[in-house]
Amino acid sequence: MGKRHAENLRRLVPEAHLVAIADVAHQRAQQIAAELEIEKSFSSLEEMLACKEIDAVLIATPDKFHARAVETAARAGKDIFCEKPLATNRADACNALNAVAHAGVRLQVGFMRRYDPAYAAAMKRIEAGEIGDPVVFKSVGRDKDPSPLSAYQSNVNGMLFYTNTIHDFDLARWLMRDEVSEVHAYSTVTIRPELAQYRDIVAGVVNLKFAHGAIGNIDSHVQAIYAYDVRTEIVGSKGSIFVGSVERTPVTFLTPAGGNTVLADHFLGRFADAYLIELRDFVHNMLHGLPPRVTGEDGMRALEIAIAAEESHLSGNPRAVQHQERESGSAVGCAPALDGLRI
Ligand SMILES: NC(=O)c1ccc[n+]([C@@H]2O[C@H](COP(=O)([O-])OP(=O)(O)OC[C@H]3O[C@@H](n4cnc5c(N)ncnc54)[C@H](O)[C@@H]3O)[C@@H](O)[C@H]2O)c1
Repeated sequence: MGKRHAENLRRLVPEAHLVAIADVAHQRAQQIAAELEIEKSFSSLEEMLACKEIDAVLIATPDKFHARAVETAARAGKDIFCEKPLATNRADACNALNAVAHAGVRLQVGFMRRYDPAYAAAMKRIEAGEIGDPVVFKSVGRDKDPSPLSAYQSNVNGMLFYTNTIHDFDLARWLMRDEVSEVHAYSTVTIRPELAQYRDIVAGVVNLKFAHGAIGNIDSHVQAIYAYDVRTEIVGSKGSIFVGSVERTPVTFLTPAGGNTVLADHFLGRFADAYLIELRDFVHNMLHGLPPRVTGEDGMRALEIAIAAEESHLSGNPRAVQHQERESGSAVGCAPALDGLRI
């Protein structure tokens, strides 16, 4: 994911200057720096932050290191783009947000679906009142291929609800323009029982209650095999919206044997536009002293739903989503630099 962001920043975000890449696997950082024809690569975030010319940092480490990296970058006074999830537990997330508020920097969390043209179009119609009051939210998020067991053994990412369903939790809040108040999660490891020892699951269904009375349901699956399948439906009092399609492109090939179509197979293809638009927006806002469009608080709210969903899956009972009101920092943003955001 970090490589795609780096490619976008280097080649397709005119207001950004990609200055350096850091990876604990330094060879990887060196290789990508060479591919993208930039001079600086480092083997840690701390070393990179010593590089005075950097204005902002993009974090795409595995999930469990996000919060610490946000804290470190905030203390160094940098604006931050952090991949989802903000953290894998509440304490780490609080520390990260406190550091951001204390330093007066800005933080955007990588919920790129909000920038996908189809989701953005749906939101415009909801905001215009075209479907009336949203009543039911229904979302499907299925990855195509199973991850190797080593990905679970390394224990560096959150379980399914934190690393995958978190996108749908964010969509639920955003599209319904409401907070999720209660969840009831069902889960299965039926086709891959060995995942249980890593406290993870193959598929989960999470029922939702919203604070103002609406309801919802999210179905997540890590190995649907047939495609990368992300779709959402919002049913309102005056109309409904379907977002997404299992097809990669709207084309059907017809022969005497029948018809077939090419299915989406990966998030990098399905959300290519969204990844680029979110970075253009982040860079633009940082450069022009504006707040980020997807905030640290959004990251926290989605994480709180994931925590409740995991608790529900472990206990078998519905769980209220616990939210602590926090003092949000009022980051003002630096004066615009003339030559672009150095990241
Ligand atoms: N928004 C999305 O749609 C989306 C899609 C894929 C991944 N992600 C998120 O992006 C993040 C990265 O995912 P990935 O699939 O690229 O993971 P990955 O394991 O392929 O890559 C992570 C990289 O981070 C490096 N790293 C590990 N710890 C580090 C540290 N402390 N400091 C610097 N570098 C460190 C690793 O060496 C590795 O090169 C994850 O949090 C994931 O949830 C988001």
